[in-house]
Amino acid sequence: MVLHSLEDTYTLANGVEIPVIGFGTWQTPSGQVAEDSVLAALNAGYRHIDTAAAYGNEESVGNAIKKSGVNRHDLFVTTKLWNKNHGYKQAKAAIDESLQKLGLDYLDLYLIHWPNPVDMRDNWAEMNAESWQAMEEAQRAGKIRALGISNFRKHHIDELMKTAEIKPVVNQNYLNPSDLQPELVAYDDKLGMLNEAYSPLGTGGLLGNDTVNEVAKNHGKSPAQVLIRWSLQHGFLPLPKSVHPEYIKANAEVFDFELSDAEMKQLDSLRGAADLAADPDKTDF
Ligand SMILES: NC(=O)c1ccc[n+]([C@@H]2O[C@H](COP(=O)([O-])OP(=O)(O)OC[C@H]3O[C@@H](n4cnc5c(N)ncnc54)[C@H](OP(=O)(O)O)[C@@H]3O)[C@@H](O)[C@H]2O)c1
Repeated sequence: MVLHSLEDTYTLANGVEIPVIGFGTWQTPSGQVAEDSVLAALNAGYRHIDTAAAYGNEESVGNAIKKSGVNRHDLFVTTKLWNKNHGYKQAKAAIDESLQKLGLDYLDLYLIHWPNPVDMRDNWAEMNAESWQAMEEAQRAGKIRALGISNFRKHHIDELMKTAEIKPVVNQNYLNPSDLQPELVAYDDKLGMLNEAYSPLGTGGLLGNDTVNEVAKNHGKSPAQVLIRWSLQHGFLPLPKSVHPEYIKANAEVFDFELSDAEMKQLDSLRGAADLAADPDKTDF
């Protein structure tokens, strides 16, 4: 698939189109910083924003969307169910709260943020099933266009699939050259879930890597651009985050070069160059 711009889309298994790069907002402080950076992203042509209730910046994201004047139908907005809001009733309320904070009447994508929060280690499968039921109802009511999961491994996916009437169409995970998670990616592919790549720059940790810098030099591009391009060439949907307008703009300039097979292999071999994906069964939150 040849990609040309930020307006290019992948088609999710339920037919919904999703712009191929999303703008990340984790650790972007709410208020002026979040508003300005999301506005900078929308001005630079991003049409896909990734936020979460846990990021505490949904209101600021909503303000930026309003200020941008971009037509709602041209935008793709994702938010996520936080760990303390699991369960049927709680998830139902959390969806409405996110809609209200974002100032939107529908979400494009809603994800379960983590499969096994520390407070539900004994009954995570039942809790995910309950939350999912609330999410399905919200989709049927027109409040959400697509449902997905995040940080789910095979056993979490298998449990969810036992009761899900609407299947997840996205799995969002830590994916970059430092941790390719090949078995998980293949499993998502097999089940028709798009692999969204969070922390495509290793939360910044891969930007100083020698191999990444060498490949960047070959193309007259920045390390960040190489990592985002790498993600796209794997068929992932990268979610780069920045609060600097010059980085935000540059991170989207990845459609005018191509990494060779040899360069892709070189980058694929960087396991452990930054963090590895967190084990979702062992987090302390
Ligand atoms: N589902 C989940 O559990 C989960 C977990 C983590 C992340 N995510 C999503 O994925 C998004 C991205 O992941 P991430 O926030 O971990 O990090 P990332 O996008 O891998 O890296 C962001 C870091 O790189 C810096 N940066 C960005 N572009 C740069 C450039 N061109 N040159 C130099 N530095 C640059 C940023 O600095 P400045 O901001 O200072 O510019 C920031 O420190 C998140 O924002 C969030 O939306 C989801």
